[in-house]
Formats: sequence, structure tokens, C-alpha cells
Amino acid sequence: MREGLEAGLKSKGCTIKMLPSFVYHTPDGTERGKYLALDLGGTNFRAMLVRFKRQKYRLYHKIYTIPLEIMQGTGEELFDHLAQCVCDFLDYMGLKKVRLPAGFTFSFPCQQSGIDTGTLVSWTKGFKATDCVGEDVVSMLREAIKRRNEFDLDIVALVNDTVGTMMSCAYEDPKCEVGMIAGTGSNLCYMEELKNIEKLEQSNGILKTNEQTSEGEESEAAVKSDLKMCVNTEWGGLGDDRCLEDIITPYDAEVDIHSVNPGKQRFEKLTSGMYLGEIVRQVLLDLTRRGLLFKGHVTETLKTPGIFETKYLSQIESDRLALLQVRSILQQLGLRGTCDDSIIVKEVCGAVSRRAAQMCGAGLAAVVDKIREDRGLERLSTTVGVDGALYKLHPHFSQVLKETVGVMAPHCDVTFLPSEEGSGKGAALIAAVVRQKQEI
Ligand code: BGC
Repeated sequence: MREGLEAGLKSKGCTIKMLPSFVYHTPDGTERGKYLALDLGGTNFRAMLVRFKRQKYRLYHKIYTIPLEIMQGTGEELFDHLAQCVCDFLDYMGLKKVRLPAGFTFSFPCQQSGIDTGTLVSWTKGFKATDCVGEDVVSMLREAIKRRNEFDLDIVALVNDTVGTMMSCAYEDPKCEVGMIAGTGSNLCYMEELKNIEKLEQSNGILKTNEQTSEGEESEAAVKSDLKMCVNTEWGGLGDDRCLEDIITPYDAEVDIHSVNPGKQRFEKLTSGMYLGEIVRQVLLDLTRRGLLFKGHVTETLKTPGIFETKYLSQIESDRLALLQVRSILQQLGLRGTCDDSIIVKEVCGAVSRRAAQMCGAGLAAVVDKIREDRGLERLSTTVGVDGALYKLHPHFSQVLKETVGVMAPHCDVTFLPSEEGSGKGAALIAAVVRQKQEI
């Protein structure tokens, strides 16, 4: 992971993409006003109105599901659907006539050349809408809004969910400079010293940065040494050059082959909610075929992809649940077994989720130790903003994650701060920071 992070900072096209976010500061509490936040990251789209006032905020929202045929249809259909949802939300809030500044949280890898523009590098998490990769997703949304011709928006920021999470947690704790998602997908962002993002210079990023931030006569070198920028690591791509082969099992290989993006996002496929259930199913299938489980009966249910959702993993692993209850969850899933079978299934779930938490912990240890070394510190004390169902709802994931970071980065004191409304509040905060800068 550490090597991957360093390589991605130097050049484009690496497995860990290290995407510049053009977010230079965490919030300072002076953010004011009303903002829209739009959040596309999984099976839902959320439209939100966020109002900041004297270090407090209020948030109103509506959730819209994205039908599978739209997730996997054309880009135009997807963005038309988003515009329709925003229109409904503005109607509902009585804001259709107001042109509000908006932050767009789009939780997929985007190559940004400024805060309000970014081309989609690839889809992840089961999305595969056509004609989007290589396109500017902000322009696609603006065009869809224009086609609808019913309302207008001022989209001022494109935001990854990790960055939104970091920003929303930094609003509560100024020591927060890392954002992490352990949910349907897996990813992390952190504040990196601008001088370390070598590839930015190649794309004129530094020039842009100096125009925006240098004061008076300050030299370029001095400006660069002080400044930071949040980098969206897209660490889910670790292993796409096969460097994780020692860790990857035949079960992982099966899950990868049957995914919509074989060979891609290999680290994400070991660590995120979208895939853990499938890994468990592959193990159970193998144990059953060998006659070690369910009396050797390979049922249609067991052969059905996607039956094991992360929420079942969380339930089965809960210590509060007696074995009989585990057995009844399995029965609800159509898997009839003995109490011994339940013990085995619970063991398998535990092994898969424990490995995921340890891998994320190792990744996070690499990041915090890098920050510590870059600053020449003997000890680093830092806060990590976290979001995602795996972190928040799984009974053991967060604990194993913490323990692993403790073991692998013993010179760092890491505080975990679960984010409150990360994507929405964070995107609105970034929109507020951008807006306030423009007004100055
Ligand atoms: C995406 C990231 C996102 C993460 C968490 C991954 O699949 O590539 O951009 O931050 O999921 O939602």
C-alpha cells in the first residue's frame, strides 16, 4: 500500500490513482448559508438541503432509489433520472425558483482538473451506465438539468464521498485530516503536502494553485511547502497489477471473475460490503461440495449470487445472537442446516470480515505512518473521519480495524470519528468554502 501511494503521487495511470481533489483546506467554522448537496454513490441518490449557521447545521433530505436498469442503462438516462429526482426535491422544498449553490458527491473515481469538473475514470460498485467513462460528470448533470428546463443549479464542487466525510468530521474536530469509507465500496482520502503531489506539476495544477493562494511576493517554493491538498487515493485499485496474489484465495478469484469489472478493484473486492457476502457464499459452496456443510446438498439458493448481503453477515456475527437465531437467519435465506452448520457459517463470516478489517487497518496504517514520516514526527496524533455500513453496523469490523492500526502503526495515535451525514454535510461545506472564496 505504501509503495502504491507513493507511485500514484508521482505519475498517472498507477493502480492507486491518487486523484487530486482541489480541496485545500478543512472547514474553519465560518461557513454560512444554504446549499444543496446531491449524493450518488450506491443504489440510492440523495438530494439534501443543508443550512449552516453559527457552527451549527440543519439538513433536509429525500432518498431516491436508482433502478438497476438505470444503473446499467445509458449515461443520458442515468443523469436524466438524477435531474428528475432533484426537480422533485426542489418542488418538495419549495425551492424551484431559487438558484442554489450545490455540491455534487459522486463516489466513483474522477480525474479532476478543478474543484467543479472531473472525468469519470471507471465505474465501480456494480454501476455500468454507458457513455460516461472519460466524460465530465458535472457537465453531464448540467446538460441533463438544461434538457429538463424546469430549474437551475449552480454546481460549484464535485466531491468524492471520502472527501465529504473528512470535511464533515473536520467541522467537528480540526485534527481530522483523513476520510475513510468502509461500506458498499472501500476508499480513503487524506491531506497531502502539495509538494509531494509530483504529477500535479505536469498538469499545471501548481500554477493554478499559486494563482489562487499565493500572497504578495511569496516564492513558489515557499507556497508549495506550506500548502496541502486532499488526495482521493482510490485505494480499492491496489492489486490490479496482481501484487496481492499472495493474499487472494480461489474464492476471491471466483468473486472477481463474476463481477462487472473483472481484474479491477482487487483490494476493494477483499474489503467492501458489496463483495464480502459473495466471498462467504463461495466458501460455503465449496464446503458443501466437499460434503462438510449442509449434508453436502448444494441447493439452488446457495448457487444464487448476491443472497448473502452484508447486513446478514453483521447479524450472523453478532455476539448477542444465539446459535438458534443464526440457524433461523440461514433458514430465512433458504439454507436449512443443523446447529453445527450454523457454527461453521458463523466462523466463515468471521474469517472473511476479519480479513477485510485487517486489510483496511493495514492500509490505514500505511497512510498515517506516511503522514508522520513526511512531517518528521516521532509520534503523530490524528483523527480519521469514517463512514459506511461496514464500519458503523458490523459488530466487530471497527474494533479489528482499530487494533490492526495500533499494531501496524505503533507510532501513531489514531482517533476514529464516525461521520454524521458525511456525503451531504461535507459536500455542502466544500460548496460553502468555494462560494465564500469567490465572494472575497
Ligand atoms: C469508489 C470510490 C468511493 C468508494 C466508497 C469505490 O468503489 O471507487 O470513489 O469513494 O467506493 O464509496
